[in-house]
Amino acid sequence: VASNIVNIVEVGPRDGLQNEKGVIPVSVKAELISRLGKAGVQTIEAGSFVSPKWVPQMAGTAEVLLQMERFPGVRYPVLVPNQKGLDAVAALLAAHPAATDEIAVFTAATDAFTRANLNVDTAESLERLAPVARAALDRGLRVRGYVSVAIACPYSGQVDYARVRHVAQALVDMGCYEVSLGDTVGVGTPTQVAEMLEEVKKSIAVGMLAGHFHDTYGTAVANVLTALEHGVRTIDASVGGLGGCPYSPGATGNVATEDVLYALQGSPYHVAGGAAGGTIDLAKMVDIGWWISEQLGRESTSRAGRAIRAR
Ligand code: HMG
Ligand code: MG
Repeated sequence: VASNIVNIVEVGPRDGLQNEKGVIPVSVKAELISRLGKAGVQTIEAGSFVSPKWVPQMAGTAEVLLQMERFPGVRYPVLVPNQKGLDAVAALLAAHPAATDEIAVFTAATDAFTRANLNVDTAESLERLAPVARAALDRGLRVRGYVSVAIACPYSGQVDYARVRHVAQALVDMGCYEVSLGDTVGVGTPTQVAEMLEEVKKSIAVGMLAGHFHDTYGTAVANVLTALEHGVRTIDASVGGLGGCPYSPGATGNVATEDVLYALQGSPYHVAGGAAGGTIDLAKMVDIGWWISEQLGRESTSRAGRAIRAR
């Protein structure tokens, strides 16, 4: 029987901000992470060490990691696409050993999406990531894996869930402690999520899986609940519903963290919290969702965040 404890991985500072057109100051990104830690978030994806030519918004991640306020017991993983990214993390750790203790590597269930995101096909991405994961593990870092387009691909359509299973297995085989299954485009329905998870669970223990849902078609909260029903206990979410993927045209942000917290109120599930102890503070998350959205010149897109603000 799966535990009723749900872990939220807050991906707003990374997935949420990576797609922004304007320049976001390092100080704003650092303050976002500080505020999230204060609100009780346990795991905060702090940024990425990717090519600034590909994703300019993530260029200042090392500075963000040094500026932000840290809370005990909170993890601050960063995305790494290749050896060069890991070298940058290693250089940072040489001067600041506590900067991070976890990286995330990423690939996709289709060759077309992997080419758009990493400039190689899926098999080649796995070949390149395996030594990066090995080197990270040897340095004592934890390694998380992502499989993008786990339901459908913006370039090649409906995805074969057996491919999702094989790619996720390859990530587990290279030492990932957890694999996050991404509905990158945000088109998945609960039925599709259930079918995809049942396929992946044929090979991988459900405790090693996370759900990562974008909300383009408004199904993300339903997909989160479906994933929980199927035993998944780690959910990626983004405060204020920030985000979109640069290689997934039209995709909106991740499921809003506030919406997940609201939907789980009074349920048998308990959302684990970090520094604030107990759980994540919904009211504080609503304020953060509005604060960061206003920094970006717009309103929070979290439905719960909007409704709570209007009360
Ligand atoms: P490439 O152009 O094939 O690589 O890109 P390259 O080796 O030819 O390098 C190009 C330039 O980038 C070179 O600079 C490199 O030095 C530099 P130049 O010599 O021309 O001045 N470079 C780097 N700089 C900093 N850090 C690095 C790095 N690597 C190369 N790590 C590459 C290949 C993998 C670099 C590129 O495709 C890339 O950075 N991709 C990342 C794309 C990305 O960040 N996507 C978004 C995150 S994934 C996502 O959002 C999905 C997820 O949320 C789940 C879901 O929703 O599905 C996780
Ligand atoms: Mg994403």
